[in-house]
Amino acid sequence: KPIVLSGAQPSGQLTIGNYLGALRQWDRMQDDYDCLYCIVDLHAITVRQEPAALRSASLDSLALYLACGIDPKRSAVFMQSHVPEHSQLAWVLNCYTQFGELSRMTQFKDKSERHNNNVNAGLFTYPVLMAADILLYQANQVPVGHDQKQHLELARDVAMRFNALHGDIFTVPEPYIPPVAARVMSLQEPTKKMSKSDENPWNFVGLLEDPKMISKKFKKAMTDSEDPPRVYFDIDNKPGVANLLSILSGVTNKSVDALVNEYEGKMYGHLKGDVADAVIALLEPVQQRFHELRNDHSTLQQVMQAGAAEARRRAAATLAKVNEAVGFVLP
Ligand code: AQP
Repeated sequence: KPIVLSGAQPSGQLTIGNYLGALRQWDRMQDDYDCLYCIVDLHAITVRQEPAALRSASLDSLALYLACGIDPKRSAVFMQSHVPEHSQLAWVLNCYTQFGELSRMTQFKDKSERHNNNVNAGLFTYPVLMAADILLYQANQVPVGHDQKQHLELARDVAMRFNALHGDIFTVPEPYIPPVAARVMSLQEPTKKMSKSDENPWNFVGLLEDPKMISKKFKKAMTDSEDPPRVYFDIDNKPGVANLLSILSGVTNKSVDALVNEYEGKMYGHLKGDVADAVIALLEPVQQRFHELRNDHSTLQQVMQAGAAEARRRAAATLAKVNEAVGFVLP
């Protein structure tokens, strides 16, 4: 089976954006791929985190992965920091990545503006750590949202460069484009993507939020002032309505066109109410499973330890090849 690696940062509560863009795909891929899913805590500290909140969010993420259908019998689920090979390979790859390449990364430009009091070296070399995550496991496919495409491209370039110098060490990964590409946008500023670390909580819907809050957030979502109001899909002129339609389409599996027909002559409030109901219904069983699991420390520990052991076994094999290839004396 082709190998798949993916992960999310425990930099806040996972959102419906992370679910529709990533977790749901991860779940579906488990039958046909050899999957490794990690909680990328090393990545999360590129932005300042409160330690207790990071620890708690990491365990929440683990329980949420499982609640969303990631099955530890079929997939390795682990904390990135439990597998030291990620940091070790990242160092080596740092020495094979150019300053100029990293300077062109749009996420770095974006995040260094948002967190301009902490533009640390880790934020700059974030894509190199991501390359290490992927290349360590010889991943063939990487499910990435739109925002991570540039980073995957860099991982491919670094892998090819390393291979050209040292022989066939890394598998060059391909992006996995999900059948229905979902990019969920912010509810209040629908021209930017929904992010779990957004400082305005009205911009995102967390997977653990209570139904009343979810309804309120959708009710308050930004639409537009077209008069009379009409529901149709126009990303440029009606980004708020387009976002609500694509969320509803993602959750219900109905096509956007079918939905546009359904909402002909209806008001925005109607659409907002239906999106909220659909999201609440989707999350109800997820939240229930989450609460059972989150209190079950021994299961969580077992899952992450077994996941890390499997990940380390595989990562160590790649790292040994890399160490030899660059000329380190083997221990
Ligand atoms: N809004 C989104 N729509 C669709 N997919 C999304 N993803 C993130 N936001 C959306 C996908 O979720 C996976 C995990 O993302 P991540 O946690 O590694 O980092 P991120 O992309 O930076 O996500 P956030 O929520 O925006 O986190 P913060 O706020 O900490 O930066 C990825 O596959 C991503 O594409």
